[in-house]
Amino acid sequence: SGPEAARLVASRVLDVPDFPKPGVMFKDLMPLFADGDAFRDVIDGIIAYHGRDSFDTVVGIEARGFVIAAAIAYATGVGVVPVRKAGKLPRPAYAASYALEYGEATLEVHQDAFTAGHRVLVVDDVLATGGTAGATLDLVERAGGTMAGFTVLLELSFLGGRERLAPRPVHALLTV
Ligand code: PRP
Repeated sequence: SGPEAARLVASRVLDVPDFPKPGVMFKDLMPLFADGDAFRDVIDGIIAYHGRDSFDTVVGIEARGFVIAAAIAYATGVGVVPVRKAGKLPRPAYAASYALEYGEATLEVHQDAFTAGHRVLVVDDVLATGGTAGATLDLVERAGGTMAGFTVLLELSFLGGRERLAPRPVHALLTV
């Protein structure tokens, strides 16, 4: 259930100060991934929330989104597509850049990743400023997909990332 999933995330996230740089409080969800029962409950909860017939493909955002996406894909029988940091994909790709606190970052997806109209569930571990999510939405739509849902394990609401996907709904197992 929703409260149970939120409790699992809350009890297994570790706060790491000053990572990857000074002043940033990193939210480490690897303890959740490492707990087999908790991880399975969270994956099953995401699938139940969206409905297993509501998407044709699941997209995972590098790198921790890959773990979540692969588990959902295996459990539902759909395929998994990675959205990767620039320069990692071997074939022609669309690129989308977004602003970081200092400078910018770029994400990419293969141009042939989706059949036109494919309903895509996008997953990641954390929604912070929403730059990553917004760029991924752009990539999914440019590659011919339709975003059927977006789920994160943890949303840091004070950073306003949800606005970057508006009016599309954002599902977070835990919002702080
Ligand atoms: C983290 C996290 C999300 C993103 C959220 O990834 O896993 O993908 O940041 O931040 P945003 O909402 O402000 O864009 P990170 O950049 O650490 O990449 P990694 O998973 O490859 O380490």
